[in-house]
Amino acid sequence: MSSKVEFPFPFTSDHYEYTNNSSPLIPARTVTVSSNYVEEVRLKRKLLEENHERCYRSLPISLESQWETLLLVFRELATYEPEHFSFKRRGNTYVFTNHLLQEEETFVYRDHSSIDFEPLDLVGRHVQEDLIVMGDRHDGLFLEAGQLCFPSNWSLTFVLGMEFKTIHTPVPAIAEFIEKVERFITRIRPNTAWERKNWSITISHKLDTPLETYSDWGKLRYHVTKENAGELVNLRVEVQRLFRLPVTNDILFSIHTYLLPLNELVANDDWLKKFYTNVKTLPQELADYKGISLYKPELLGFLEKALKRRKIER
Ligand code: HEM
Repeated sequence: MSSKVEFPFPFTSDHYEYTNNSSPLIPARTVTVSSNYVEEVRLKRKLLEENHERCYRSLPISLESQWETLLLVFRELATYEPEHFSFKRRGNTYVFTNHLLQEEETFVYRDHSSIDFEPLDLVGRHVQEDLIVMGDRHDGLFLEAGQLCFPSNWSLTFVLGMEFKTIHTPVPAIAEFIEKVERFITRIRPNTAWERKNWSITISHKLDTPLETYSDWGKLRYHVTKENAGELVNLRVEVQRLFRLPVTNDILFSIHTYLLPLNELVANDDWLKKFYTNVKTLPQELADYKGISLYKPELLGFLEKALKRRKIER
């Protein structure tokens, strides 16, 4: 399957607003194996090797949920992608086989000495998603563990241990909306999954854009022109899933990040029109927050040229 066919285009209306665009997912899956699997899993592992403290953090309280996540994701992969993965139990020992990477993981459940990494850090090395464990405590949802290789300008170190509402304080005018979202999350039933899409824009085809390396990738925003936007600018979509772990009652939050260069996006008339109207009507404070203001005129200029070329009315 080509990456264009599987791209999760996020816009359903022609203007931007905060909405809880989550929908239930049946079957309740937490991960997706896309055509870039091998390449992206290799990149994740490289980032983890080179910057482990930046890409993996946990609090001891998360360990039970980490084990639950490991079992859940290995089972899910073997159940839904049997041609690529298998998972077997022999007595106390589990064996997960990743046929795409020709690897085997053998472990005893809840025995830390049987694995080389923490459980979340191990299972995350077999999926393209970033994985976050949110502890559901009586006074809120707290970020208690995460393997985060492909963040969109945020830092795991900064948010470790933080509450859901506090994590979202940098987002403009989101307080009231995010309180409602938190109430929605606390009502998610065990073993059910919800999915939503979040979008932003990345300059260059780069998945790893953490806050810590902003000075490397952020400056590319000054390089966008009407002429190079098709190559340089990528629509970045995060497919985010929320899953209630049935034993610990915590929430597993998975993030699968997709990038689409604008040259590919504008080949689809409907996508081109929706993307254009969403960028055009984006409130100033959101354009600033998403880092788009720096090159918004160049971006709109590129899209308007494409609309004209394809004879689409604005
Ligand atoms: C439960 C797990 C979640 C975590 C750990 C999380 C974390 C984050 C973080 C770290 C940011 C970036 C904040 C910054 O700029 O520093 C963010 C942005 C945001 N989050 Fe969440 N989030 C979660 C779930 C949700 C859900 C379920 C929704 C909505 C239904 C949501 C809506 C948003 C929105 C609208 C933004 C602004 C993004 C943009 O416009 O680019 N989040 N989130």
